[in-house]
Amino acid sequence: MADIKQLEQLNHEFGIDDADTRILFSQGRGDLPKVDLKGPFASAELYLHGAHLTSFRLHDSGELLWMSDMSEFSEDRPIRGGVPICWPWFGKPTATVPQHGFARTSKWKVVETKAHLDPSLEIALRLTDDDSTRSYWPHPFELTLRVIVGRDLTLQLSCLNTGETPITAEAALHTYFHVSDIAAVKLLGLEQRSYLDKLDSLKRKQQEGAITIDREVDRIYVDTDDIVTICDGQTRRIEVRKSGSESTVVWNPWVDKSAAMGDFPNDGYQQMVCVETTNADQDARRIEPGEVHTMTQSCSLVSVST
Ligand code: BG6
Repeated sequence: MADIKQLEQLNHEFGIDDADTRILFSQGRGDLPKVDLKGPFASAELYLHGAHLTSFRLHDSGELLWMSDMSEFSEDRPIRGGVPICWPWFGKPTATVPQHGFARTSKWKVVETKAHLDPSLEIALRLTDDDSTRSYWPHPFELTLRVIVGRDLTLQLSCLNTGETPITAEAALHTYFHVSDIAAVKLLGLEQRSYLDKLDSLKRKQQEGAITIDREVDRIYVDTDDIVTICDGQTRRIEVRKSGSESTVVWNPWVDKSAAMGDFPNDGYQQMVCVETTNADQDARRIEPGEVHTMTQSCSLVSVST
């Protein structure tokens, strides 16, 4: 719950209110604290719950992210849509741990805001180990998400190992992109790559040509740091660039899985596709004591013709 005093303190310490740049903390849906960032090119909305970005909207071209209008906004549930932060594991390694880790349902702290001259706005949120995280994963860590809102959207997830033994972590910037019609979407950049098919016991398969989606798709593309271009019909192209990641997950739940998820509209699959910058499966990263691993994803709208 966001209390008024906490919001006032956040605005006092980290808020910015200039001519065309603003960083403002307020109470979001489900009374959860959120921050709105407004720069000259784009606006973004970020919840402290899960460090969850729920919107990135270019002033001249609209929203890049998809959000479920049935999402829950509650302290013990992940938000559906936007960019969930999956960490320190991807999927559900054992029956007793939360799917996609605990970061997306944890309370993050704001550590820094900046207005850059380029001009872009930046905010950093941090999660550190506590009794709750150690009950799932017995390691000390400092996890930082930097969100940079310029003409592009850049997300940088860094894990510092603050302990005395090596740690191994998976991660995903589980980005839900908004598309106008999934039937007209093509993903370029993963041609001839291998993928592990999560719908077929992680069998290794080969991608032939561009990815099109006409059924449930749940794949981990491996050994790839390639740029992926989401071609949304003839008019929109979103480019997803990354570093510190050699696996990319592509997910669309299609008809049955959409219907089975309580926080997902039945026809929601038609307007979204997840292209996720990950350290998944064999791409999990070992981080030595005192070292940092950083995974970065930048998304830009590269062309819009009318
Ligand atoms: C994807 C996984 O990244 O996330 C899928 O590959 C999973 O297997 C999907 O279904 C959504 O997960 P969740 O926990 O947010 O419903």
